Amino acid sequence: MRLLSLLATFIIITQCNKFYHSGGENHFTEWKHYLGDPGRSHYSKLSEFTSKNIKSLKVAWEYESKDYGQMQMNPIVVDTLLYGVSSALRVFALDARSGEEVWVFGDTLKTLFSTSRGVSYWESGNDRRIFYTKGADLWALNAHTGQPILSFGKGGKIDLRSGLPASARDKFVISSTPGTIYKNLIIMPLRLSEGVGAAPGDVMAFDVITGELAWSFHTLPRNGEPGIETWGDPNISESPIVGAANNWAGMALDQKREILYVPTGSAAPDFYGALRPGKNLYSNCLLALNANTGKLLWYYQFIHHDLWDRDPPAPPNLITVKHGGKKIAAVAQVTKQGYVFVFNRETGQPLFDIKEEAVPESELPGEQTWPTQPIPVKPARFARQSDKLTIKDISPFAPNRDSLITLFKQSDKRNFAPPSLKPALLLPGYDGGAEWGGAAADPDKGILYINSNEMAWLLQMKINDDKDEKLTVGERVYRQNCAVCHMTNRSGSQASGYPSLLAIKTRLTEKKIHNIIMQGKGIMPGFPQIPEKNRQELMSFLTDKSDNKKVKEITETKSKELYMPFQHMGYTKFLDQNGLPAISPPWGTLQALDLNTGEYLWKVPLGETESLRELGQPTTGTENYGGAVVTENGLLFIAATKDGYIRAFDRDSGKLLWEFKLPAAAFATPALYYAGGKQYLTIACGGEKLGTIKGNKIIAFALED
Ligand code: HEC
Repeated sequence: MRLLSLLATFIIITQCNKFYHSGGENHFTEWKHYLGDPGRSHYSKLSEFTSKNIKSLKVAWEYESKDYGQMQMNPIVVDTLLYGVSSALRVFALDARSGEEVWVFGDTLKTLFSTSRGVSYWESGNDRRIFYTKGADLWALNAHTGQPILSFGKGGKIDLRSGLPASARDKFVISSTPGTIYKNLIIMPLRLSEGVGAAPGDVMAFDVITGELAWSFHTLPRNGEPGIETWGDPNISESPIVGAANNWAGMALDQKREILYVPTGSAAPDFYGALRPGKNLYSNCLLALNANTGKLLWYYQFIHHDLWDRDPPAPPNLITVKHGGKKIAAVAQVTKQGYVFVFNRETGQPLFDIKEEAVPESELPGEQTWPTQPIPVKPARFARQSDKLTIKDISPFAPNRDSLITLFKQSDKRNFAPPSLKPALLLPGYDGGAEWGGAAADPDKGILYINSNEMAWLLQMKINDDKDEKLTVGERVYRQNCAVCHMTNRSGSQASGYPSLLAIKTRLTEKKIHNIIMQGKGIMPGFPQIPEKNRQELMSFLTDKSDNKKVKEITETKSKELYMPFQHMGYTKFLDQNGLPAISPPWGTLQALDLNTGEYLWKVPLGETESLRELGQPTTGTENYGGAVVTENGLLFIAATKDGYIRAFDRDSGKLLWEFKLPAAAFATPALYYAGGKQYLTIACGGEKLGTIKGNKIIAFALED
């Protein structure tokens, strides 16, 4: 036995050298980076699991966190320790062989803020550090003990706002995606407001030893910097209204070329862009930055002057493809619209043609739509698009088909239909298409594995009725900041995932409500930028304490600048009476795309709808959040679906090989690692999203001895 495991270790070490990959030292056995490697391949060369034995995969261990709720994290595994983050943003280290807790950092109280997609790991000799964020704080923890490293920043943490201009100090700045480690730097994604008053979305590199800012790239150019001519205002980065263009989805790193590939978010406010006329560089871009200095090497903009929140949702994949008989180091970006853009990693040249196509013009006063948008000629899109739908695509399962057809006929279905006072059907929806889970890749063979949503949403604007004399200050603040999700009448939209705020005081204390407004919760951003006086008025409105005080004159905060003439009417899914998608299935898909040719190899529905399965309907696919992992020897693992399963597919055919019902749905990406002589598959099951039950388990699977 001893000898066998020694032998196994020897084989692994030799294979490890043989298969040395840009991903890192022990790419073969560990899962040292977010999504597996710095190229974000979601890829493993482990081969103990095969298509033949996969059916005998069993739960090897379970870890229960003390707190319940959504976990989007992709754990990392270094040696025999697995590092992850719970729903309440507690960081933990587990023995990767048994699931036993080694240390935990953070309190058990359900904190607010966003969910976390994981942690980053850095080492130099025996100095091993785990980096993670909670709110605006970036912490450095000792990876052996979980204790803060006191020499980093102040008492083991820095405030991410320390690297931003002073104007960002009282704004909503957090990070939900792990930073990218390069040499002694950690380069940080940021999550900012998408409404009025977002901070500028600088890409910042901090020193892992001291916490000092090493460099920053201004995605919102400062006065005099290149790109500033695309905003209509030389001081746009100081605007009290316009901001963002932040990298929130994470980035990929080519260690050999020393290049960071950074997808950037849309400019805020999202849906009405009169205050930012122009292309808005460098929002909605893929940036290639020198990883040592942050200097821009090349960029490509996916959406000019975004009015749809169509920013790239996931880190790009670094992948090698063969074009014209030559091997090319490429970078591929999946998008919410269902397009895949592929570039030469060094030059930024697209590997397939992209056409600038004319798109419809906005009718909203003040709005200047950009006249064209880039559309790849190849590969074909992987998700259906509203402009190709007909009434035949209204769900056959909808009991209220006739009323859905009426709404469908009334709505604007053109590709890039601009926001207007009429409803537009947004398909793929606000989240995509591809979502934050991103694509898995075989980095050497040039194949991309993409899971995608096919959920149509409605997009409609209304005239801002701030001027309505009947509104209290609190209600006006509410409409400006909250109604987009919680609806004008505060009823929310359960089906679309936004809670009702009616009678909120019977459920939450004022302190709790205040904290939620300041810090955000789940996908809700915080609103520290609302001035205290107005926040008090908002609280009075929410707790129904407002008197009938009329708005007599513009209050200090209703300065002209903060006034937006049009407002988004609320994120609403296009659903039938039963709460199922109003368009026909598939509602979620999984596909393999060969980037050598630009052709799809296969496509299958991903996930099942229980109520329809009972009626004998074939697999419908479901909404899915979280990505896949693929193995060199032909497997693909994915959870992500609303139905709460984790599945294994044949990577070459899309055939389902194994499925397992998890205790709660896993809106997260699995990890594969090897520890203690065994291969494991692990996944975080937090549920909560899409109305599913909450969970608290990290589960690892292995083959039976
Ligand atoms: C981008 C969408 C969005 C915006 C804008 C938004 N919220 Fe929320 N809000 C949510 C979501 C989603 C939740 C549920 C979060 C969770 O539990 O994970 C939530 C939860 C809440 C809760 C807790 C509800 C409960 O029953 O636990 C309160 C209170 C709240 N929001 C108030 C506000 C206020 C006040 C504003 C405006 C200042 C606002 N929200 C703006 C999306 C939003």
